[in-house]
Amino acid sequence: MPLVTTGEIVKGAQAAGTGVGAFNVITLEHAEAIVAAAERVGLPVILQVSENAVKFHLGRLRPIAMAAAEVAAAAGVPVSLHLDHVEDDDLLRQAVDAGFSSAMYDASKLSYRDNVAATRAAARWAHDHGLWLEAELGEVGGKDGAHAPGVRTDPVEAAAYVEATGVDALAVAVGSSHAMTTRTASLDLDLISRLRDAVPVPLVLHGSSGVPDPELRAGVRHGMVKVNIGTALNVAFSAAVREVLGGPQPPVDPRKYLRPARAAMTESVAHLLTVLTGEHPAHA
Ligand code: G3H
Ligand code: ZN
Repeated sequence: MPLVTTGEIVKGAQAAGTGVGAFNVITLEHAEAIVAAAERVGLPVILQVSENAVKFHLGRLRPIAMAAAEVAAAAGVPVSLHLDHVEDDDLLRQAVDAGFSSAMYDASKLSYRDNVAATRAAARWAHDHGLWLEAELGEVGGKDGAHAPGVRTDPVEAAAYVEATGVDALAVAVGSSHAMTTRTASLDLDLISRLRDAVPVPLVLHGSSGVPDPELRAGVRHGMVKVNIGTALNVAFSAAVREVLGGPQPPVDPRKYLRPARAAMTESVAHLLTVLTGEHPAHA
């Protein structure tokens, strides 16, 4: 199945009243695990490469992007490629020729006025080049400490921001926080409903690893559509690696620990995808 666009996947999820998982890809094994999980449960999925992941790959976007695109292109379910948390305009410009159909432009550290100006320009450029653009108003707590985790997006301001910038989706601050390794976050469900009613584009939940299953499901029911998950995969990955390397005769062949690490990520993603679509019986 060829790569599809993020816009199509998100639109489909919104029309069906479900959430779609957008999972962060750091290594090739992440992409393989995410796609294997999506195939297992028969659901579309979004592969995201963040600006931070590009920095990890020595500042080069194409090697990890091309690898993810190849994994996606061979998938038996719809898969799209999304460039996540882009602050660097040059990186945004590289997205088009690297297989991405969408990006999240992150000007959330700027003042409201500067955020609007930068995001409006990015959205114009993105649309001229066929990219679907997500943006953020009010930084989701936990990333770089610019705001406390208690920060919340105001529905009236959010609607004005979307109108002023012309973005296709909006990341909102509703109680989640980036990079949590415990699932103890609580979503403001009433605020999510009010944002859904006020904002004319799909809502995006960031920092979803810290949100327990029932809260994730409830967040989707109240209006979240694209659900970004990264740390949960790395928790699974690292636990599997630790288990192998902590054994009596730790191997030196990386395949000996990357194979279980990839399998652990697959389990995690498959479970989360079913939670988001309400197919997990315990959380329907
Ligand atoms: O944009 C990516 C996500 O917000 C991932 O957050 O690592 O806390 O799940 P997380
Ligand atoms: Zn995020």
